[in-house]
Amino acid sequence: MNEFHNPVMLTESISSLNINQNGIYVDATFGGGGHSKEILKQLNNEGRLIVFDQDSEAILKNKIIDDRVIVMNKNFRYLKNCLMSVGINKIDGIIADLGVSSYQINTERGFSFNSKVELDMRMNTSASLSAQEVLNKYNKENLCRILKEHADFSNSQNLSEKIISYRKENYIKFSEDLLNLFSGCFYVPKKNQFFARIFQAIRIEVNDEINALKDLLSASLNVLKPKGRLVVISYHSTEDRVVKTFMKFGQFEAFAKKDFFGNQFRPFSLVSKKPIIPSSEEMNLNNRSRSAKMRVAEKNRII
Ligand SMILES: C[S@@+](CC[C@H](N)C(=O)[O-])C[C@H]1O[C@@H](n2cnc3c(N)ncnc32)[C@H](O)[C@@H]1O
Repeated sequence: MNEFHNPVMLTESISSLNINQNGIYVDATFGGGGHSKEILKQLNNEGRLIVFDQDSEAILKNKIIDDRVIVMNKNFRYLKNCLMSVGINKIDGIIADLGVSSYQINTERGFSFNSKVELDMRMNTSASLSAQEVLNKYNKENLCRILKEHADFSNSQNLSEKIISYRKENYIKFSEDLLNLFSGCFYVPKKNQFFARIFQAIRIEVNDEINALKDLLSASLNVLKPKGRLVVISYHSTEDRVVKTFMKFGQFEAFAKKDFFGNQFRPFSLVSKKPIIPSSEEMNLNNRSRSAKMRVAEKNRII
């Protein structure tokens, strides 16, 4: 067990990358470096690994001393430009293990409803938008949007009204404020699931996670070589829908574009039609892995 973060579906994800030992790979979500270390074991001296994490603590606490590694303390949405900045145009594979690490959940940044700390939820601590800003400044329409789109709440109107009415008298600052303002809004035995979804909605908004994911996927189209692999592990349905649609259609609309001659544009082949999920042993050992879904696609040769 790793104190920082236990990598999810480590064996399955690395074998899905189908590593070519002198290839160039990107770990878009370095975290505790679990997936990166495994990739490095399979690369020879000519192979390269470029790792991204927007959280400088992840990068500082898990230093990898290895000449084959290039570290980018950047958002993965800038993949293409970051690669160009180090003279790389094409790569052999990308792995993205989305969301937050166990370390981040346990920090004092308010990612978890179990800690009595100020709400922040920024992965990149120099970013401007924090959870407090979302909760205290967003209008009703935007609050509804995030609760609905990022956490599938069907009663997003009602929940948004609760936030707005509470903040007329109080500034929403601590995770406890959320526990108070939503009291009575959930079925008690499902309290943890309810707050997990509320926190997820706010975190996704604060870190602009869905748009960053779309940018990463769009960039993968440009940077992956033919036969290059895209491996994405997601933890909730909104992310998984985006990944599934993109791998199938090469865009975020669920239909295939056609060229002048009526040929469908299919830039990827699915390596497995269904998402891969962790084994029951892994789910028992690592609670966080329970919601994981991995999708794998291979870049086609585009003429
Ligand atoms: C689930 S953890 C990855 C764990 C890692 N695979 C391991 O084995 O330790 C996700 C990491 O990705 C980072 N992250 C999430 N979204 C990001 C983004 N858009 N750009 C860069 N890093 C991101 C988070 O800061 C976090 O450290």
